[in-house]
Amino acid sequence: MKAAVYEGPRSVAVKDVPDAKIEHPCDILVKITTTNICGSDLHMYEGRTSFETGRAFGHENLGQVVEVGSAVRKVKVGEYVVLPFNIACGFCKNCERGLSNYCLTMQPEPAMAGAAYGFADMGPYQGGQAELLRVPYGDFNALRLGEDAAERQNDYVMLADIFPTGYHATEMADVEPGDQTVVYGAGPVGLMAAYSAILRGASRVWVTDHQPDRLRVAEAIGAIPVNCAEQDPVEVVKEATLGLGADNGCECVGYQAHDDRGHEDASLTLNGLIDAVRFTGSIGVVGVFVPEDPGGAKAQNDMEAKGKVPIDYGLMWFKGQRMGTGQAPVKRYNRALRDLIAGGRAEPGFVVSHELRLDEAPSAYEHFDARDEGWTKVVLHPDGSR
Ligand SMILES: NC(=O)c1ccc[n+]([C@@H]2O[C@H](COP(=O)([O-])OP(=O)(O)OC[C@H]3O[C@@H](n4cnc5c(N)ncnc54)[C@H](O)[C@@H]3O)[C@@H](O)[C@H]2O)c1
Ligand SMILES: [Zn+2]
Ligand SMILES: [Zn+2]
Repeated sequence: MKAAVYEGPRSVAVKDVPDAKIEHPCDILVKITTTNICGSDLHMYEGRTSFETGRAFGHENLGQVVEVGSAVRKVKVGEYVVLPFNIACGFCKNCERGLSNYCLTMQPEPAMAGAAYGFADMGPYQGGQAELLRVPYGDFNALRLGEDAAERQNDYVMLADIFPTGYHATEMADVEPGDQTVVYGAGPVGLMAAYSAILRGASRVWVTDHQPDRLRVAEAIGAIPVNCAEQDPVEVVKEATLGLGADNGCECVGYQAHDDRGHEDASLTLNGLIDAVRFTGSIGVVGVFVPEDPGGAKAQNDMEAKGKVPIDYGLMWFKGQRMGTGQAPVKRYNRALRDLIAGGRAEPGFVVSHELRLDEAPSAYEHFDARDEGWTKVVLHPDGSR
């Protein structure tokens, strides 16, 4: 089968690799029809993680079941399913508590937790930017879709990661009806956090970024765009709230946060949020931060290379703020968010800017990584359907 394989920093090739297959009675095999490129792939693509060369990318996957293992009871051949990027067993201590983002049995490293398809440090699993994907514990992991699945793949595929992840940011930030929320980052995840805050009834949502094209998308869904190349988002928020700050904040950028000239500083967004959110407010951090960053010393400094990020902890403590962090537990939200899509209440596919074939992945990575004008979110169709 064909797959988009990592070949080294800023290099992806679409190559023939061994076919994915059923390896365990609980596995299902999915023919991938839609798979996205994510901002998380870009950290790996840029060589800023320990991702191994020769492995396939792709953790935002949707497709049709083509085979099921002998122990699979619920999922049937022919059904359309969307797969949470987290791979989880359903029976470990963390899965039992709903923390499928930190599954203990799917992560082979005994002292670590959490697994994902085609992801650095999250187990050996191949990604779904490929023609076929092996899904462990198919009955637990696959979310089945209804009759409109084939036509509405661009909406439903967002359930694999960014819609639940954006929603999780607002959950960790305690967004309630009437709240005023500030979101850092207008990439796909930031747009989903803003969209989720609006769905939850926030009265005012600011989104800040220095990419005008992405800010225009934020504005189109009803958020207030703040171009941080022109205005200080902290001042904008404080001025609108009698100096008090927003009720809640969402971090949707991660450790490669930078200024408009490209100068990286992993503390930029966190410190902005600590300042822009009010006393006792909550901050949800879904942007990725890592314990070790191979390119960090060159891009930032030696401390950042070891995952040390100097944040204004004194101010955060003084303000009595809370901060939630980590990978999103997609399963906690994906069923409810699927039903919002099916019921016509949510259309997360609005983020899609490009639909391409799998063999177009190398140039898609280049454009998306450069945050080229208009490249908001890329979906690939390995089945050649578009
Ligand atoms: N926690 C999770 O489960 C989870 C899931 C998916 C993605 N993520 C992470 O979320 C982050 C965002 O993902 P994405 O797909 O939207 O990525 P992206 O790279 O497309 O978007 C990030 C955006 O942040 C902007 N930005 C950079 N520096 C900024 C600054 N100082 N202030 C404001 N905006 C700034 C960029 O211009 C860009 O538009 C990434 O770190 C990704 O790895 C986390
Ligand atoms: Zn993702
Ligand atoms: Zn588990």
